[in-house]
Amino acid sequence: MNALETTIYQLVRERNLPNASLAALLETANADALLFSAADTVRRQVYGDEVYIRGLIEFTNYCKNNCYYCGIRRDNQAAVRYRLDKEEILACCTEGYALGFRTFVLQGGEDPFYTDERICEIVSAIRGAFPDCAITLSIGEKSKESYLAYYNAGANRYLLRHETADAAHYGKLHPETMRLQTRKECLFHLKEIGYQVGSGFMVGSPYQTTQNLVADLRFLQELQPDMIGIGPYLRHGETPFRAFSNGSLPLTLRLIAVLRLMFPHALIPATTALGTIHPEGREMGLKAGANVVMPNLSPVSTRKLYDLYDNKICTGDEAAECRRCLEQRVAAAGYRIVTAVGDVKKEV
Ligand code: SAM
Ligand code: FES
Repeated sequence: MNALETTIYQLVRERNLPNASLAALLETANADALLFSAADTVRRQVYGDEVYIRGLIEFTNYCKNNCYYCGIRRDNQAAVRYRLDKEEILACCTEGYALGFRTFVLQGGEDPFYTDERICEIVSAIRGAFPDCAITLSIGEKSKESYLAYYNAGANRYLLRHETADAAHYGKLHPETMRLQTRKECLFHLKEIGYQVGSGFMVGSPYQTTQNLVADLRFLQELQPDMIGIGPYLRHGETPFRAFSNGSLPLTLRLIAVLRLMFPHALIPATTALGTIHPEGREMGLKAGANVVMPNLSPVSTRKLYDLYDNKICTGDEAAECRRCLEQRVAAAGYRIVTAVGDVKKEV
């Protein structure tokens, strides 16, 4: 057995590695086949061949933040802005429910129009109409009181990527007003309240080093999230980062596999960004250990406007078409979409 094989078997056994071994594993393609097959074995032990679907509703592209990488950042004057009202959001849920979705993910920029009162009103309406569904919010940094109010209104999951766990790197991706510490506090508040929490990061974001990625893995070990979303950084022509190139597909897949081995029970999506960087990126993500896909339920009329990065896929298809397309893709990859709330499986 060579040194890399030994490293992978150690990772499978101990769900951990020293920093230097993690870095070495991330920096080589030589062990990818073994790494991906080990990750797939572990995902099948925990989740079988099941793939959970989440219906993504991108309900606003207004944002008060100015993240340097993001296409809907406040200062992008070229962005055409939109908001969905409660009825439009409920219509997306109704369509999604009929298509077999039992989790709705409400995602948007940090849009002050949606006060806590408005968010609670929307969440309660969904909770009332779809009592058997999970409601996930992904609306950024809020106070603990706000998170608690959403939870009491019926939300039970929250996605907030930490983006990078290195404070200096965080400072290169965000303006002064945004702090890594605040993000981390938000994540721990969400956990304390009782949400199923998802975090994650972009792979290949500008200035990222292998050491930064190791720090991301260490932070996730500290947080112990239920969901871990990662995807390649993708350029958007109207951001300050327009000159930086896209993140790497192989490195993203390697990280998905490493995450599966470190967090066997985590819900790990094969993200839209992965499908954007390569036509079969999501299938590759599933084979490397991912077990969730998030088809779009947003109205086709606003899809293109939720423009986080260039060439985003699935912006023209009806929800039913997205669902059908993914069903086929997941089956072709050797897995099976299930109609289920798809809670995280806890270790027994
Ligand atoms: N406002 C919420 C938040 O900040 O968590 C949710 C919306 S935000 C657009 C969702 C995620 O999109 C971010 O966490 C970020 O990782 C990802 N994202 C933004 N711009 C991206 C880009 N250029 N390439 C890849 N992912 C990007
Ligand atoms: Fe706010 Fe991207 S800058 S969602």
